[in-house]
Amino acid sequence: MSIDRRLIEDFIPIREISAKAAREKSIRKGHISTLHLWWARRPLVAARAAVFAALVAAPETYQKRTCLKKTMIDLCRWEAGENTVERAKKKILEAQRERLNLPADTPLNEVPAPKVLDIFAGGGAIPLEALRLGCETYAIDLNPVAHIIELCTLVYPQKYGKKLALEVEKWGNWVIENVRAEIGDLYPAIKIGEDLPEEFEQIELLPKSKPKQLSLAKTLTSVAYLWTRTVKCPNPGCGASVPLVRQTWLCKKSKKYVALKVIPNYETKQVEFEVVEATTEKGLGFDPAAGSSRGNSVCRHCGTTLDVKYVKQEGVAGRIHQQLMSIVCTTPGREGKTYLASSPPT
Ligand SMILES: C[S@@+](CC[C@H](N)C(=O)[O-])C[C@H]1O[C@@H](n2cnc3c(N)ncnc32)[C@H](O)[C@@H]1O
Ligand SMILES: [Zn+2]
Repeated sequence: MSIDRRLIEDFIPIREISAKAAREKSIRKGHISTLHLWWARRPLVAARAAVFAALVAAPETYQKRTCLKKTMIDLCRWEAGENTVERAKKKILEAQRERLNLPADTPLNEVPAPKVLDIFAGGGAIPLEALRLGCETYAIDLNPVAHIIELCTLVYPQKYGKKLALEVEKWGNWVIENVRAEIGDLYPAIKIGEDLPEEFEQIELLPKSKPKQLSLAKTLTSVAYLWTRTVKCPNPGCGASVPLVRQTWLCKKSKKYVALKVIPNYETKQVEFEVVEATTEKGLGFDPAAGSSRGNSVCRHCGTTLDVKYVKQEGVAGRIHQQLMSIVCTTPGREGKTYLASSPPT
């Protein structure tokens, strides 16, 4: 009996594939993750590596292993070209021909494609890569949202071809325009250096002085809204607003650390927030995780500790308020300089 041992049981270049998979997370154009959010989606390059390594045989020699390692590193690049994918498909079919005991001279186009079944297919990463590698692919998921994502990712592109991309763009824009017409007034743009219409006055750009990088009269779009509950400091000599926020991280990646710095304003007795960016965690100059802990908070104005009992009492008495912050970006939807607008607590 021949032992059908596969590459995935022998060796895969995990370190290299992990690095490519991590990079894939920041791809914002042309990736299926931008069509529909699916939290559990696995990186495509990792799925491709798993499918390939599950379908080719384990190497018997050091030389063959080295060669397969190279093939996999090349294949698991986001930009892997058609030739690379074709070479991988060929290796899969050669392995399949041997596995099925077909004569060695059977043309590869007569070898039945391997069948791949993913019974927990989710966002469809594994079946998509199995299709790319020429397999006869089946995807199942009990979640109807996942099922629709799988149809749109795996079935419709094959069924409708390139015109599907135009339709997605057209109807995507239609949805955006109609949603904007219906609720856009609730999400006003932030205008720099202009008096805001009265109804927008609750949101002001911070810092108050015009940031150097922004030209006057420029309109900024909010890309996200953050909010925190606030409670009044129990110190009779203080009474400032205390945010009940545990941590203020916005981004914590290698060489890009962004967090909100909480700044007490002693005149208004409110806290203000400033977006601080640094290339190291220490470079921020403050600890973004130094907020509430187990329900206890510290007043940023006077240092009084608000224990969990006091916070609960205030909640029961209906004296917990909210403070809204709006994250605005000069290049919406892209990595750009981030600014913050903030409202006083309501
Ligand atoms: C970790 S996710 C899969 C992620 C997927 N590999 C991807 O890259 O998007 C697991 C999936 O299994 C599905 N699932 C859980 N139990 C299931 C069951 N009994 N039958 C079918 N699908 C199931 C869930 O709905 C979920 O979508
Ligand atoms: Zn205080």
